[in-house]
Amino acid sequence: MFYLWKRSQVPLKQPIKISRIDNLIIFLLCILISIISSYKILLITPLNTTDIFSWFLNFIEILFSSGILILVSKKENPTISSRQIILLITLLLAVQVTKLALASTISPLSMIIPPALIISQGMGSITALSWVSIASLSWPDPAVSINNNLFFILLVCASVVSVLGGRIRSRAQLLQLSIFVPIGSFLSQWVLIGKHNISLIDNKEFVLANGNTFSDSLLLAIVMLFTILFIPIFESIFGLLTKARLLELADKEKPLIRRLSLEAPGTFEHTLLICGLAEEATRMIGGDIDLIKTGALYHDVGKLHAPNWFIENQDGSKNPHDEIDNPFKSAEVLQAHVDEGLQYAKKNRLPEKIANFIPEHQGTLKMGYFFQKAKEKNLKINENDFRYKGPVPQSKETAILMLADGCEAALRAMNINASDNEALETISRIIYSRQKDGQLDSSNLSKGEIFLIKRAFLNVWKRIRHRRIQYPTNKNNTFS
Ligand SMILES: [Fe+2]
Ligand SMILES: [Fe+2]
Repeated sequence: MFYLWKRSQVPLKQPIKISRIDNLIIFLLCILISIISSYKILLITPLNTTDIFSWFLNFIEILFSSGILILVSKKENPTISSRQIILLITLLLAVQVTKLALASTISPLSMIIPPALIISQGMGSITALSWVSIASLSWPDPAVSINNNLFFILLVCASVVSVLGGRIRSRAQLLQLSIFVPIGSFLSQWVLIGKHNISLIDNKEFVLANGNTFSDSLLLAIVMLFTILFIPIFESIFGLLTKARLLELADKEKPLIRRLSLEAPGTFEHTLLICGLAEEATRMIGGDIDLIKTGALYHDVGKLHAPNWFIENQDGSKNPHDEIDNPFKSAEVLQAHVDEGLQYAKKNRLPEKIANFIPEHQGTLKMGYFFQKAKEKNLKINENDFRYKGPVPQSKETAILMLADGCEAALRAMNINASDNEALETISRIIYSRQKDGQLDSSNLSKGEIFLIKRAFLNVWKRIRHRRIQYPTNKNNTFS
């Protein structure tokens, strides 16, 4: 738990503001959940003051729990959107209603475990664990007491799903989970509450005696499989970004990435190197590696609109910027790689968290080369015309990408005989210039983390240098 909580603390991000209307909807949903979960107490006749008091306590308890759930989800996902909070609360409401309507016919396992899987995948393990505890403990009718052993099994299975669901990185692992959890729940129910004194050898008697346990576990498996089928729909409706989705997007066979490798090979190479730098730095500070790997892959897709206007794709023969000889137009082309990138992201339905890497990796950086050219020509200039429109990085991951983007060309151009100190100096100079320019102000990167990022970039540079060293070979060496 401590490990998971610690994981949820980094990286810090600026919380997203939720509109008043959304806040009102969320509040009304919480009130509805509290009413549904507690109203049965008021049906007791004759009603006395103690009953009303106990109803009030129950009502406040559920309302308070829902509030805590929202706080935990915001703490774990500072960039959580109102749609996602509404999903979280609606799932709680759905479970409470289902309990009221079907508590006597359906096992609580099938009601609580599948939503826990969706929440852990989309919002993290801590949020899922909090949701599970509230959904399991706030039973609508206090008179209904579920079997203590069953309750224990429910909590264990739901906790396993919540913890593993937050870590699972592929749909195949999800399928395995949806098979092994029902099997585990069947075995534990059989041992703890089933009639296990009947021998397994007597198949017919065994199935008849443990029929309920068997059908409950089978139902759980079916509901979990359906949930996995519907997770992509939840992803697109509620903007959930699961690990499986991130890894799918990071597939280099995706059409947009394929196009980048074919039409802008220089940008593609630059992107791959940046992925390496950013991944290493994110690992050092304990950020979201899958997020930054995918974000880095798409950060410069906007260059597809005019690949040969960017130096990494030019073969050295002609530079269109020299031909137009207009620093203002050149600055517009550079800004266009951000605007067009956002268009590509929209057309390809990239999740918001990934699309954020496109404008934030450039922040409001100055296009120094063209700004200088305009100055040389004595043109009337406004510095803002030569700055990207921003915003500056809003998260640690986008800030790391900006720093990696800045250091990549300089590191690639460095002499292979350069010392570690020279490389570290170059990295520090570039990072300091971004820092001084205010580009890291909203990213929440601490001084210690910036130090770690520098070390990480240096480590990657050492790797690159190692790769570039020519190994002595002789004719007899076949490297077999
Ligand atoms: Fe860029
Ligand atoms: Fe870039």
